[in-house]
Formats: sequence, C-alpha cells, structure tokens
Amino acid sequence: MSNSTSAARPWDIEAARNLYNIHRWGAKYYDINDEGHVVARPLQDAGVAVDLTDVIEEAKARGLKFPLLIRFQDILRHRVESLNQSFRNSIAEYGYRGRYRGVFPIKVNQLREVVEEILDAGKPFDFGLEVGSKPELLAGLALQNQIGSLIVCNGYKDAEFIKMAMLGIKLGKTVILVVEKLEELRQIIAISKQLNVEPLLGIRARLLSRGAGRGASSGGENAKFGLSTAELLEATELLKAENLGHCFKLLHFHVGSQVPDILTVKKAVQEAGRLYAKLHKMGFPISYLDVGGGLGVDYDGSRSAFDSSTNYTLQEYTNDVVYYIADVCNAENVPHPDIISESGRAIVAHHSVLIVEVFGAIEKIRPGEFLKFGEKEHPLVNELLDIRKHLAKLNKIEAYHDALERREDAQHMFTLGVLDLPDKAKIEDLYWQISREVVEHYKGHAYVPEEIRKLEDSLSDQYLCNFSVFQSLGAGPAISHHADCPPERAAHARGHARGYHL
Ligand SMILES: Cc1ncc(COP(=O)(O)O)c(C=O)c1O
Repeated sequence: MSNSTSAARPWDIEAARNLYNIHRWGAKYYDINDEGHVVARPLQDAGVAVDLTDVIEEAKARGLKFPLLIRFQDILRHRVESLNQSFRNSIAEYGYRGRYRGVFPIKVNQLREVVEEILDAGKPFDFGLEVGSKPELLAGLALQNQIGSLIVCNGYKDAEFIKMAMLGIKLGKTVILVVEKLEELRQIIAISKQLNVEPLLGIRARLLSRGAGRGASSGGENAKFGLSTAELLEATELLKAENLGHCFKLLHFHVGSQVPDILTVKKAVQEAGRLYAKLHKMGFPISYLDVGGGLGVDYDGSRSAFDSSTNYTLQEYTNDVVYYIADVCNAENVPHPDIISESGRAIVAHHSVLIVEVFGAIEKIRPGEFLKFGEKEHPLVNELLDIRKHLAKLNKIEAYHDALERREDAQHMFTLGVLDLPDKAKIEDLYWQISREVVEHYKGHAYVPEEIRKLEDSLSDQYLCNFSVFQSLGAGPAISHHADCPPERAAHARGHARGYHL
C-alpha cells in the first residue's frame, strides 16, 4: 500500500518510515537504510543490516522465482534469547523462587530448520517443545534431546498418542501429558498400568477469565478444551483413588492466541495462580504452572489493544506473569512453581519475510490531466470546478462535504440514467483531486478528523501482488517488490500472518 502524496511533498526516507510505521512494528529487526531500501537487522542494533534489495537481486540472478520467503535464523535465536532473558529479569526483580521453562509450540511453525534453531538457541535455558498431535510428538521426541527440557503434550490424545508419550518417558524424556478432557485421564491411567510406566500429568483448567481478540474462544467457560472446576475436582479424586496424586505435575491454561490486552493476562494468571495454590494445598505436588500461548505481536505498530496489536511489551508481559504468580503463592503460602509459557508467534513472527512481485497498481488519482474541461460543463462538474478553484479560501472540511455530496448526487443520477459517462468521470476525478488537497491541508495538524484519516487511507494506491495468502504467509512481514518503482518505494509494503495489510 502506498500513498499518492509524493506530488505535494518530497518523498524521503523519514516519510517512508513514518508512513509504514516501520520503527514500531519492525521491533528493531527491520528499518530503511540511507538508500531507501528495507533492511533486516537480525541482531537488532548489535549486528549487521541485511539489505533486502540485495537479497532480491541475488535471488533473481540465481533464477529464483517469486513469491520468495526469506528467513532469518538469527532473529529466531534473538527471539528465544529475548523471551528467556525477559523472564529471567522478571524472576530476579520479584525475587521469584521458581524457574522459567518455556516450550515452543511446534504447530506454530513446523519447519525442521525453525524448530532445530529454536531448540539450539534455547539450550542454555532448557527450552522445550509443545506438541499437539501424534506426528508432532514423534518430531518432538526425535528433536528434543536436551536432558531436562520439557515436551508438553496438548490436544486430543488417542491411545497411540498416550502410548508414545509413555515410551518417551521410558526413554528418559520429560514428556508431560496435559489432560484436556476427563475421559483422557481414565485412558492415560489404563495405559500407564498396561505399560507399567507412571505418567507425568498436567491438567488444563478452563478458566472463567477470557480474553478479547482472535483467539478468545480458546478461553472462558465455553472453551472447547480444559476441565471445569467440578471436573478438576473429579480428576483429583480419580488420581487419589488410583494412588497417582504424585503424578499431577502441571497446571495449564490458555486464554487464546494473540492476546491484545494485558488486562486479560493479568486476570487469567491470578485465577490460575489461585487454582494452583488450592490444588497444592490439597496435597498435589504440582511443580509447573503453564500459562499457555497468547503473548502477542504488535503487527501494526500501534501499541494498542486492537486485534493486530498489543498494548504491552514483552517485559511487561513477563513481569505480570511472574509478579501475579508470586503474589498469589506468597498470600497462600505455597512454593513458587516453575513457569512454562507456550509462546509461538512471539518467537517466529519476525523471522520470515515474504517477497512478492507487484504486477500493477490501482491509483485513485492518475498522474497528468487526461480529462479536458470546456466552457459548457454539467452543473455538477461546474460546482466541483468552483470548489477546486476556491479551495484555498474555503473551510476544508465543508468543502470536502460539498464535494462528497456532489459525487453522491452524480452517482444517483448515473444510476437513474440521467448522467453520461464522461461527466461521471469528470466528477469522480474532481472529487479525488479535492479530497487529496483536503488531506494535504491536514498534514501536520495535531487534530485530524476521523473522516479525513479514513479519506487518506482511501487515497492510497493499491498494489496488485502475485501470491497466495494461504500458501505463502507464515506469521511474518510481507514485502512487495516492484521492478518499476523508484528504489525508496520498491520494497516497503507490509502484511502479516492474516495478510490483510497488503
Ligand atoms: C494450547 C496452545 N498453546 C500455545 C499456542 C500458541 O499461541 P501463541 O502463538 O499466541 O503464542 C496455541 C495457539 O493457539 C495453543 O492453542
């Protein structure tokens, strides 16, 4: 998406930075260099900048076709280290007595190179994996060879899945089966007796706290997964009756993915912390509290509670998780559990860039005058010409409303068959010219009316890009590449996991 204001204002790098908000969503991993090219900085300020235009040229020289996915393994490392470091900072700050034992949910990116890089970067932190299906568990058992790192099994589990997890335990791996439904627990107990292996058990609690945003249905009392309070108590009775209470090691919850509002996190962590404390006091030696996924990515850089953003930073997230668990545990006088989070998108979102070819652009205002205005014009055309002529002296918002009204009148007349095509074209063209000048007038004003902001968006050019959102987009930025664009405008459009920004 680009903006057609270059005629009125020189287009420079600062203007591009501001328009595309790159310094906010780029999270210091992406910027624009002095040549006006998008650069990636995999180690943020501590490392080199990779010019994406160079990468594109190199790819073209090698005959590679677009769309092209570029992945920065160093960004993955940096994300894993940042997440772990952030939890460590919070643990130190609040005198927390447990550890952070993060796991990466394989379903978020199943590429072998991605999972291996994350595990390698996570070695110093005993970073583990979360799996949600049999194939993921198989991959997890093969890839996770760090003694002590966790493999947390969520999702629907059939007998084979459970057996495989038990075999993992036999192999000396820390495979925790998280019970999502009560029947699963009965099955796990039966299979563990069959195989003569004690399970490591977790239970997913269905919290009442629920978030807003895209993944909100994963939380709350109507969530598909997790045990209600009554079912949780039934599960504890079952465990006691089977003499397996000591196997209950982990309490899990997940309020949804991409949680935009930190208040959701605060409430959920407090509720789960209380559950943990009560269960611990009932005699269950739970040593892990798993706060699930949800750590969001500020895709649009607005630092807000909109779905495509987050109103918190990574450090604020880890501070809240650690602080509230400590707070409840201190009040209830129970040990601080190790904290697990299953952050997926927050680890992988920044590391991949999709380069797509731009094969055309739709411009609202065509460069150059191609419509000729004569002496005798349609009254609506004359009125718009008049507004355009005197715009400098007119109240801009009123002038815009007048132009809008004329365009709507023209639309009605055309539908009724009383306006011909050339007049319709002139009216629309004049409307966009006036709109552009009105938008220009508000540039730099402290207050810009909402409708003018929307008008500015609708004045944007739309690029036509050649790619499939479903096949090509992971969870990273998308950059459009257009051979005919001046370099400063060639590689700067941005999309994200849902692809709706392009
Ligand atoms: C149980 C569970 N854990 C973790 C995640 C990953 O969430 P996110 O990518 O928001 O960190 C998901 C995704 O929805 C999930 O369902």
